[in-house]
Amino acid sequence: MTTALASGPGASADTTRQHFDIYAFDAPLGAEVVGLDLSRPLSAEDFARIHRAHLDHHVLVFRDQRITPDQQVEFSRRFGPLQIHVLQQFGLAGHPEVLIVSNIKENGKPIGLGDAGHFWHSDLSYKDKPSLGSMLHAQELPSEGGDTLFANMHAAYDALPSDLRDAVAGLKAEHTYLARYAELQKRSPWRPNLTAEQIAEVKPVVHPVVRTHPETGRKALFVSEHFTTRIVGVSDEESRALLDALFAHSVKPEFVYRHQWAERDMVFWDNRSLMHLAAGTPDHLRRKLFRTTIEGDTPF
Ligand code: SIN
Repeated sequence: MTTALASGPGASADTTRQHFDIYAFDAPLGAEVVGLDLSRPLSAEDFARIHRAHLDHHVLVFRDQRITPDQQVEFSRRFGPLQIHVLQQFGLAGHPEVLIVSNIKENGKPIGLGDAGHFWHSDLSYKDKPSLGSMLHAQELPSEGGDTLFANMHAAYDALPSDLRDAVAGLKAEHTYLARYAELQKRSPWRPNLTAEQIAEVKPVVHPVVRTHPETGRKALFVSEHFTTRIVGVSDEESRALLDALFAHSVKPEFVYRHQWAERDMVFWDNRSLMHLAAGTPDHLRRKLFRTTIEGDTPF
């Protein structure tokens, strides 16, 4: 961690206002929010600071948050409507907006999505309106492994070699949830077969290869090895070559922050600015997190 960016004013006439600080990580993205209790409703001023920090740093880490699923949902909804994952069977009972991300099996059955994030991706990029951002709240963590990596797609775009930047200008790409589903099912045999309704829910969509962040105006690469299948309007060979070059470039170490989870961490990231990857957990260790996913805009 480096510099304190701002200090909260502490208690004032507005009794819901909290004293907290925001520390940027010494990394290509990310900041830690220290002293904010997310189990309390946020004042308009506190919310505005968090909103601004999220736009500036793309990942916010709130430590030791003793919050309920209802409180996570309430905080998430401050940023927009929530999206329900197509694998509804992994929603938390009574909380369909909360996706259980977990490798735990009970009575031989998975309690959540065990291999979420196995490939680099931006959440729900396969929807007309992909996610604005996602929150993961740690419930149970392994003693080793289980890290989450985030790659800064603004920095990746800015650092593109000029020939590649010119080559992708104005191009669009197809995203589909089904792109690697069969491959994931082979690795994780418990992954359910999709019903006809679920398949209809995730029809392929087309988005710009370079998107503009709707709130900051910054450009970002918006293709991923998980969900992007092809660039439209070019030959298969050209599409493959461009995607391979973009995938390799966008996750170079200089764009990546690796999050090592601590008990009760709440991590909130911007899917319009980042891709992320779950590094994996040894099979014999338990990991469980609750995810909420906030709907964003149609990319442009
Ligand atoms: C996800 O892709 O939302 C899950 C990330 C993780 O489990 O670390």
